[in-house]
Amino acid sequence: MTTSVSIDNVSKEFSGTTAVDSVSIEIGQGEFFTLLGSSGCGKTTLLRIIAGFLPQTRGDIRFGDKIINNVPAHQRNTGMVFQNYAIFPHLSVFENVAYGLKVRGRSRGDIDREVRQMLDLVRLGHLSHRLPRELSGGQQQRVVLARAMVIKPDVLLMDEPLSNLDTEMRLHLRSEIRALQQQFGVTTIYVTHDQEEALLISDRVAVMSTGKVVQLGPPREIYLQPSTLFVASFIGDNNLLPAMVEETRPDGSLLARLPGGQALIAHAVPGQKLSHGEACTVSLRPQDVDLKQGGPGGLEGVLEDIQFLGNTIKMYFSLGEGKPVVVTLPGRHDVTIPTVGSKCTLHPSAHAVTAFEGVVSQ
Ligand SMILES: Nc1ncnc2c1ncn2[C@@H]1O[C@H](COP(=O)(O)OP(=O)(O)OP(=O)(O)O)[C@@H](O)[C@H]1O
Ligand SMILES: [Mg+2]
Repeated sequence: MTTSVSIDNVSKEFSGTTAVDSVSIEIGQGEFFTLLGSSGCGKTTLLRIIAGFLPQTRGDIRFGDKIINNVPAHQRNTGMVFQNYAIFPHLSVFENVAYGLKVRGRSRGDIDREVRQMLDLVRLGHLSHRLPRELSGGQQQRVVLARAMVIKPDVLLMDEPLSNLDTEMRLHLRSEIRALQQQFGVTTIYVTHDQEEALLISDRVAVMSTGKVVQLGPPREIYLQPSTLFVASFIGDNNLLPAMVEETRPDGSLLARLPGGQALIAHAVPGQKLSHGEACTVSLRPQDVDLKQGGPGGLEGVLEDIQFLGNTIKMYFSLGEGKPVVVTLPGRHDVTIPTVGSKCTLHPSAHAVTAFEGVVSQ
């Protein structure tokens, strides 16, 4: 039976390094949950603790109500799809997938039926007799997925399962993983450093940095309401402009002055206190800007460069000082594109401008 997973104040210290730092997460039954963060932030360490391969220094792991700290890995009934968790090279596709059921002492009839069903689901039924070396990378990864799922795990654990594949196979398999997960309803904990993959595949995402969870929520919330400058810079494209708080207002908004002298109204993040005269960083997503010729408010910019990317048009505007501001427009027939060198006014849409404590390293 698939189960909820509770990570309660878990830390892991290696000699001199805190790889996981007081992490608490409640993962619901059947949820697709992703740990997202850059290299070395502690994702694999946390996943290995959940799998039972690594003891935590502090804290508890529960599957349902049961504390499993002392349950060995092979008794946790997890399905694992790890980057380095290779398939058995001397066993056929069928035998690889059958392995977990054999170990669990299932009858031959059961094994035969369930392995065939599973292989059909991952579209490898016609290759069941092949050896792994006779498969493509994507097919091999589907064998690993089938092997993990066939045992009907309580929890499915995946560590960067797509990172060795080419883009096309990666895009294809990530939809397949999501579809299979939904079909089985299995609680899944997925690790990636690819933010687009995390947003697409997950019910909820925990963004990690130096062993800590810095924000946790559904993909849309993480993208639209980053709670820190780190999350705003890590998730999605963003203009991050250094600024100075010139005026704070009772409604939580503030007037931010940019180095070139222009100012714009930004919303402070709840919980962060910015005061008059303080350095801050203003974030503005490239798609949240309207371009106008003049008009009150807005930022005056000169168009420096245009990149045509097909479905979007990317434009770089100089505001006088600092890095250019990127603005994207949809690549539609009816969109008018200004010419390079022309002056435009950039009007950010309401609520799209956020001010964060701290300064970005440019
Ligand atoms: N066995 C170990 N002994 C000492 N330090 C370790 C050990 N395993 C991991 N670390 C350290 O713990 C930190 C977290 O490592 P971890 O493998 O969990 O990162 P990660 O988020 O999975 O990174 P990546 O995206 O590169 O896989 C790193 O600083 C790493 O060097
Ligand atoms: Mg890792």
